[in-house]
Amino acid sequence: MTPSKEELERLSEAQLLELVDRDYVPNHVAIIMDGNGRWARKRNLRRIFGHRQGADAVRNAVKACRELDIRYLTLYAFSVENWSRPKEEISALMKLLEGFLRKEKKEMIAEGIRLNAIGRLEDLPTSTQEEVAQTKEATKDGDELLLTMALSYGGRTEILEAVRRMMDAGVEPKEVNEENFHRYLYTDGIPDPDLLIRTSGEMRISNFLIWQVAYSEIYITPTLWPDFARRDLYEAVIEFQSRERRFGGLGKD
Ligand code: FPP
Repeated sequence: MTPSKEELERLSEAQLLELVDRDYVPNHVAIIMDGNGRWARKRNLRRIFGHRQGADAVRNAVKACRELDIRYLTLYAFSVENWSRPKEEISALMKLLEGFLRKEKKEMIAEGIRLNAIGRLEDLPTSTQEEVAQTKEATKDGDELLLTMALSYGGRTEILEAVRRMMDAGVEPKEVNEENFHRYLYTDGIPDPDLLIRTSGEMRISNFLIWQVAYSEIYITPTLWPDFARRDLYEAVIEFQSRERRFGGLGKD
């Protein structure tokens, strides 16, 4: 029997780790990191402080995934809708991302973490595009964890771009099927997420991987992203393991 949420909260990080069934960890975890602004507001700080703390939470989430041997982690770092935020916030976020990649590159290589980026990367400032490209190149041999950052990402945009590319490639209507279609998405070669986590309690998908999460387990926590610690990821995985996935059929997959 899986302990209740309250019981899990009382356990130490080490006790939580012991509860994780290492033979049934999700292969791919995707996270909608939400609540940076609220975290800052609660402390009377500017939003960027929330994002800065959020970058530390990213570090923790990556470490937790490595600890559990999760092979794919996809983070919603910047959406196509986020371009409507104030210019100063956007540029601070881009600088934060660049600094994060610059700082973490060495450890990523040491830990076997390979960076990937999806979205309309051409919309990003040149310096961000360059840092992403350099980090991708520097980490390309990493084979422990594929860390995908969704940047200027929108699920509907991704699907429309896939349709356009399929038509450009001259794919015949009768050849259009789910497997074929997947090849034209940004996530070609990446298995669909088994577990989708959203922080800060909102019950929305917000245009994130809308094709790919069709059968994902969804875990929503009230924790604001900057407060999301390793133990929160362990709790999400324990909850995931307690659910029975059916894929629309009757039995367990
Ligand atoms: C949502 O918080 C978060 C974002 C828009 C961006 C995510 C960015 C980070 C976690 C920081 C840096 C990222 C990396 C990869 C180093 P919000 O501002 O929408 O919060 P709110 O809903 O409380 O206003």
